[in-house]
Amino acid sequence: MNNSAIKVSQLVKTVKTQEGDLTILKGINLDVKRGQSVAILGPSGSGKSTLLGLLAALDTPSSGEIWLDGEPLSGLNEEQKAALRKQKVSFIFQSFMLVDTLSELENVMLPAELAGIKDARDKAKRMLERVGLGHRLAHYPKQLSGGEQQRVAIARAFICDPQVLFADEPTGNLDKHNADKVADMLFALNQESATTLILVTHDLHLAQRCERQLLMDDGQLFEQRADSSSQVIGER
Ligand SMILES: Nc1ncnc2c1ncn2[C@@H]1O[C@H](COP(=O)(O)OP(=O)(O)OP(=O)(O)O)[C@@H](O)[C@H]1O
Ligand SMILES: [Mg+2]
Repeated sequence: MNNSAIKVSQLVKTVKTQEGDLTILKGINLDVKRGQSVAILGPSGSGKSTLLGLLAALDTPSSGEIWLDGEPLSGLNEEQKAALRKQKVSFIFQSFMLVDTLSELENVMLPAELAGIKDARDKAKRMLERVGLGHRLAHYPKQLSGGEQQRVAIARAFICDPQVLFADEPTGNLDKHNADKVADMLFALNQESATTLILVTHDLHLAQRCERQLLMDDGQLFEQRADSSSQVIGER
């Protein structure tokens, strides 16, 4: 049985810039098992968000292959990729990306409604209670604090029971208290729903709570070992 949530082989991403071609990812290999939690650390500009976007099928690689739940992404057209995202993947953006004109409850309901889930409203209410915001259902994003908006984004990310949750600096804009609260929630939901978690973070404390720590450095990915040495992934 295939027990990889994500598998990546020789992934390269090159973009055209005014100064010529820029290779952002230089041959990434990775295998993430179902239910695993993985932190990706690394300096600004090293390619972390680029990798996350590719893994979530939001972007297309220059070469190499990605398998999401055993399915190669290269064979899919845009429509099929969108369907796969809707079915299997959620993304928490650093900037929350809530819809300003929708209430908290409506924001969380939205993906469930799009996916045709019948009891979207009740499910959204339950998710918001789960993240401690059941008393704010009618509030709009502008009326919520940064930490509260982040928790709405988490409720929204989990409402369709994603197999894989990608989060780009989910605690990046939060103070320590709220960062801890958000992290507790991510790991609780990860445990309850056996969701695979892939987090990009600069927060070492959050990274250490993950089962695996990876380091992105100049477009290459390294496995961090417990003895704090690192090894490039895929050199077999
Ligand atoms: N479409 C693009 N065109 C040109 N350059 C790009 C493009 N996308 C990303 N880059 C460059 O690629 C590098 C990696 O970007 P990326 O956003 O993946 O970094 P990051 O590791 O997420 O950094 P940060 O920690 O600051 O978020 C950066 O130098 C960025 O400027
Ligand atoms: Mg980034």
